Amino acid sequence: MARLNSNYLKLKAGYLFPEINRRVKAFADANPAGAARLIRCGIGDVTEPLPASVRAAMHRAVDEMGARESFHGYGPEQGYEFLRHAIAENEYRSRGIEVADDEIFVSDGSKCDCGNILDIFGHDNRIAVMDPVYPVYVDTNVMAGHTGKGNDSGLYEGLVYLPCNAENGFVAAVPEEKVDLIYLCYPNNPTGATATREQLAAWVDYALANDAVILFDAAYEAYIKDPAIPHSIYEIPGAGKCAIEFRSFSKNGGFTGVRCAFTVVPKELSCATSSGEKAPLHPLWNRRFSTKFNGVGYVTQRAAEALYSSDGKAEVQSLIGHYMENASILLEAARSCGLAVYGGTNAPYIWVRGPQGMSSWEIFDKVLGEANVVVTPGSGFGPAGEGYFRISAFNSRANALEAAARLHALDWK
Ligand code: MLT
Repeated sequence: MARLNSNYLKLKAGYLFPEINRRVKAFADANPAGAARLIRCGIGDVTEPLPASVRAAMHRAVDEMGARESFHGYGPEQGYEFLRHAIAENEYRSRGIEVADDEIFVSDGSKCDCGNILDIFGHDNRIAVMDPVYPVYVDTNVMAGHTGKGNDSGLYEGLVYLPCNAENGFVAAVPEEKVDLIYLCYPNNPTGATATREQLAAWVDYALANDAVILFDAAYEAYIKDPAIPHSIYEIPGAGKCAIEFRSFSKNGGFTGVRCAFTVVPKELSCATSSGEKAPLHPLWNRRFSTKFNGVGYVTQRAAEALYSSDGKAEVQSLIGHYMENASILLEAARSCGLAVYGGTNAPYIWVRGPQGMSSWEIFDKVLGEANVVVTPGSGFGPAGEGYFRISAFNSRANALEAAARLHALDWK
């Protein structure tokens, strides 16, 4: 008899966002009036139109596809040279970071890459994740058989959880014990926290000393306003030897529906083979790409390239400015309710401590039922998120203002 991957049966409930959608649908079916005034501040999905420079580039690329001479079939799996070059030049080399064009791998999303990257690692690594954590890091390891069972609060045997709380500013400290793979996400989803240069340097030192690899998710780097905060792990000396970086066009260029991202795998990054020698990871990721992926579409890659034109850069800044103004409106609203608020200044997420004694899902139900606003329950990101909720700033200005007014009007006692 064919066997299924029983690791999937260890997964807890649904993936967080489909689970929220299920609950919102149940609410909407039972409350048509509430459904009509629903404002979604749950999933971090962009709302504003694609930049004009991006749309123009897509139109041009579509026209190219319409003529035999300029038609594009399969492209290079790793991405077209024009985009890999634009990324390496604009994101790294212009900031003094040496990243070669062929260390950039263009993909259809950071979420996919964060999951797929496990293909090139062994199954016997000790894996550390932050708590609260973007659920993809945990669930993909469960699926790959890297964990034991999960308990009722959602912790899986075999993973090392690094608690992030108000006391440590939601920045994980390096562990006492030895781990091999470390997921870090800064600016952080869900807490909106950022890590300083010194904090990231401590992680790089740890990784180098322990032959560990850091999987650095920087999908929200464009939201960093504070000039002292690093945008890339490669700003830290030595990180090229111990870190893979995930970046996305979803949250800066508004590409959640277009789908384009990239991952940097430095050629100097090596790991142990089963016989204990060191071998580089770059050829493995390259091989995986060529075998399991046919590359991102030409039109989409031209669209991403346009984000690096001078108009594109200005348009990205304007999108970021828009969402960060929403963040400050929503952050002030949550603060005016007498709640402790975190994040929201260098990240598009506001992380709010609910009233004592209320669970995250109780807060979710209250905010949905009484204010008809969808937020994300903090416990959905791990047990350390219990009692918190996350407000996403990805919305129209009108919705952000209305959501802020409704949150303010709630009785939080
Ligand atoms: C979130 O809301 O946490 C994000 O939208 C998740 C994602 O980008 O996949």
